[in-house]
Amino acid sequence: MNGNALIKNASQLVTCSGFRAKQGKEMSDLHIVTDGGVLIEDGVIKAVGKTDDVLVRFSEDVMNRFDGSGFSKKAPVIIDATGKCVLPGFVDSHTHFVFGGYRAEEFSWRLRGESYMEIMKRGGGIVNTVKETRKAGREELIRSGKKRLDSMLSFGVTTVEGKSGYGLDHDTEIKQLEVMRKLDKVHPIDVVRTFLGAHAVLPGYKGKEDAFIDYMIHAVMPRVVEQNLAEFCDIFCEKNVFSIQQSRQLLSEAKKQGLKLKLHADEMAQLGGAELAAELGAVSADHLLQASDKGIRDMAEAGVVATLLPGTAFSLKEPYARGRFMIDQNCATALATDMNPGSCFTESIPLIFALATLYMDISTEEAINALTINAAAAIDRADTIGSLDIGKSGDLVILEFPSYHYIPYHIGVSAVEKVVKKGDVVFDKEDDSMDSESVPFLL
Ligand code: NIG
Ligand code: FE
Repeated sequence: MNGNALIKNASQLVTCSGFRAKQGKEMSDLHIVTDGGVLIEDGVIKAVGKTDDVLVRFSEDVMNRFDGSGFSKKAPVIIDATGKCVLPGFVDSHTHFVFGGYRAEEFSWRLRGESYMEIMKRGGGIVNTVKETRKAGREELIRSGKKRLDSMLSFGVTTVEGKSGYGLDHDTEIKQLEVMRKLDKVHPIDVVRTFLGAHAVLPGYKGKEDAFIDYMIHAVMPRVVEQNLAEFCDIFCEKNVFSIQQSRQLLSEAKKQGLKLKLHADEMAQLGGAELAAELGAVSADHLLQASDKGIRDMAEAGVVATLLPGTAFSLKEPYARGRFMIDQNCATALATDMNPGSCFTESIPLIFALATLYMDISTEEAINALTINAAAAIDRADTIGSLDIGKSGDLVILEFPSYHYIPYHIGVSAVEKVVKKGDVVFDKEDDSMDSESVPFLL
């Protein structure tokens, strides 16, 4: 690994420039540079702008590094992006990608008319995955998690948020978070961890949800915090799962213990999750299919990022969240996959672009900001990733096309040719040697 790269001659450099979430009209601006370049040194962006200017900076750096006996640093990888569009790496700010087993049959049940919540009520859904995740060994979870991260990387994702929540007991919640910590170390994608111990009510806890919340607060959360296993705490605040009051209790305690807050809010029923997110100063509230007008306004005012997950609405055949209305209300809006084994089993960023632009009345420009700088803000990292700005991590994608318009236009197909993470090329569609199983083209 080198960490030094020079990208030059990009026909379109989409910087998404900024160090905080974009709101309302700001989301329409991509801060584009034509004939753009980026210089990355030791994994960090040192120059960004017109190719000519970046080249001047590059040659100054080369001169500075010449110490008489040779070059003190590794030579950068030089990428000629002529005819290509370059953007910040995508940030998938809401996933549940570490889990055991699959629930393919549930998808068929849903096609026959059963709802997600009905399946959950009769002991299926999340509880099913909990059983499999409890059984799964660490190695197995690391192996399957790594495969999913590889898939995300091919779509241009350079940072992902991952949640626990398929343990619902001390040991398995910790196991899931430890697996994510390991994956963060061994995989090019950065993994940001969220503790979601209150993700479902196991049959034994029906009617005793308060006791379950107490258990999470007193027996699990302190371990998570002590071992620095998560940065965020999340809860499934939903009718027939955890109430507003239970959510307030758990999240207030999480805040006291030093965790930042997220909520699965107002997904199936309008419970007031958006309002609660604003009240508690959550970093993001996610789903929001049923969020009220007031909840959306409260979030805009409190600076809570609205993270929309159109893949889930699509997969569950639920109405989409009101993305257009939220942006018009000045609410910082992010998009994410929600990758999980039940309600939305996909790592596909192109699918999210397609759904957001074609069904949610979100423009391509807004969708790109929603998957970069605003997604970074949804995991409290707008100061270090999510845009191509000096001082930020050298995470970017190079498309095989000259402009960002090709992203939703090539429907459901990834337009990403190369992915650069901290200055290293970590995915290259053109390079067969990067495939784990390369198949000879001509037999
Ligand atoms: O975000 N809504 C709750 N949690 C996940 C689904 C998890 C699952 O079904 O396994 C979600 O959709
Ligand atoms: Fe989720």
